[in-house]
Amino acid sequence: MPGKNYSILSIPWWIYLLMSAVGCIIITTLIFSHNNAVRMNALYAPLINASVEVELNVTMAHLIVEEILNGDHFEESQVWDNYARANWYVEAMLNGNQKGEETILPMESERLRLIVKDLLKRLSEFQEISRERLRKRAISGPGTEIDQRYNRIFVIFLKEAKAVKKNLQHVMTEDMRQFRVTYFILIVTGVFLALIVAMTLYRLEGLRSKDFKRLQEANENLENEIEERIRAEQKLRDSRETLRDLTNQLQSIREEEKTRIAREVHDELGQMLTGLKMELSCLESDIKNDPDSLHERLEGMKRMVDTTINSVRRIATELRPQILDVCGLWEAIEWQAKDYQKRTGIECVLQQGKAEGSLPKKLSTALFRIFQETLTNVARHAKATRVNISFEIDAKQVQLKIHDNGVGIREERKLNPESLGLLGIQERANYWNGHAVITGVPNKGTTVALSIPLEQNEPTEQH
Ligand SMILES: Nc1ncnc2c1ncn2[C@@H]1O[C@H](COP(=O)(O)OP(=O)(O)OP(=O)(O)O)[C@@H](O)[C@H]1O
Ligand SMILES: [Mg+2]
Repeated sequence: MPGKNYSILSIPWWIYLLMSAVGCIIITTLIFSHNNAVRMNALYAPLINASVEVELNVTMAHLIVEEILNGDHFEESQVWDNYARANWYVEAMLNGNQKGEETILPMESERLRLIVKDLLKRLSEFQEISRERLRKRAISGPGTEIDQRYNRIFVIFLKEAKAVKKNLQHVMTEDMRQFRVTYFILIVTGVFLALIVAMTLYRLEGLRSKDFKRLQEANENLENEIEERIRAEQKLRDSRETLRDLTNQLQSIREEEKTRIAREVHDELGQMLTGLKMELSCLESDIKNDPDSLHERLEGMKRMVDTTINSVRRIATELRPQILDVCGLWEAIEWQAKDYQKRTGIECVLQQGKAEGSLPKKLSTALFRIFQETLTNVARHAKATRVNISFEIDAKQVQLKIHDNGVGIREERKLNPESLGLLGIQERANYWNGHAVITGVPNKGTTVALSIPLEQNEPTEQH
């Protein structure tokens, strides 16, 4: 298909960009979630652990103080040790510190730091009241004023320590929520971009397969075209060969015609003229010897001259029927049909349709030659008893149809490149931009239908 371009679509550059973006987002999401998990684990787990430790140690210290006051064998130092540990954890929550494997990072939330600072104050207050109780054991027994203060502060401390733990959990949850939002945004963006990439690639694949199909079609068309060209070239070669044969045949026909004319002239005109010459010699001697027989001889000579004239006419007519030039094609056809019927015994039925307009001389000759060849074929091959001839001219075209009731031409005979008579018919029709359709029905006969356009008809080439 000339003039059409086909290209297999390539993946556009921005698809690669999007694919890289999706890759980056996936990697970022992974790094982000890993880092966040590590960070939250490192930050919150030790802090929560520390807040639990604070509560535990202070409760232990409270318990030991009670036991000592009840007279149980507990060392006071155990109380201070517990306070010291609680103290250490509270300080570590504020400023950060390390114990064994565990690293406590300082708190970031300002609000929490204030609460923890309060807790630290409460711890030293409770420590102070514990020391006072132990010092004044006699007046600090259960139900005393010191004992009540001691318990009140302890309850407040526990409340504050729980508040620290609760707030820590709250901050952690908040942090986690933020992490989840960011994580969600990253995942959604990644999925969205991946979807765009997938959809575009899918569409592109569709277009590519369409393009591929069209390319295949174009390729097939091209192959067909090439095959057609090869066939056309072969046809051209064949037709050239046929034309060569045709020319040779025409040449030999011309030669045969010349021989025939020479024979006719020799046999008929030569004999007649020799006869005339002999008659003239006799006339010469009769003028001297027998003048009475002169009249008879002159009559004989006139008859001889008449016969010669007829022979000359017949030979000339066979060469080119004069009637064609004088009266036109239809009369020439009528004359030829009559002559043909006389010679072959095949009945000719003529029918003339519209006769509006005249034909160029050369076209008349061509049609007449076609007509003659068709009649010759009927006589030679058809075994027919009748030929129907119809002829019609109007402003647009001339039509000549010759139908015989013979055996019917066989298809393979029509296609035979050696059928030069039929080829001549076709060539002549083509030359005048017309066409000749030859059809045969077995045992029903053959029809040769000619139609030549007359409007603006210039012959295709010079013959
Ligand atoms: N009217 C017809 N009826 C039956 N067969 C026919 C008729 N006209 C032609 N044919 C067949 O078609 C063949 C081709 O005809 P064509 O006129 O081309 O060649 P030809 O008559 O054999 O030889 P020439 O080249 O001398 O005309 C004939 O040999 C004959 O078999
Ligand atoms: Mg023939």
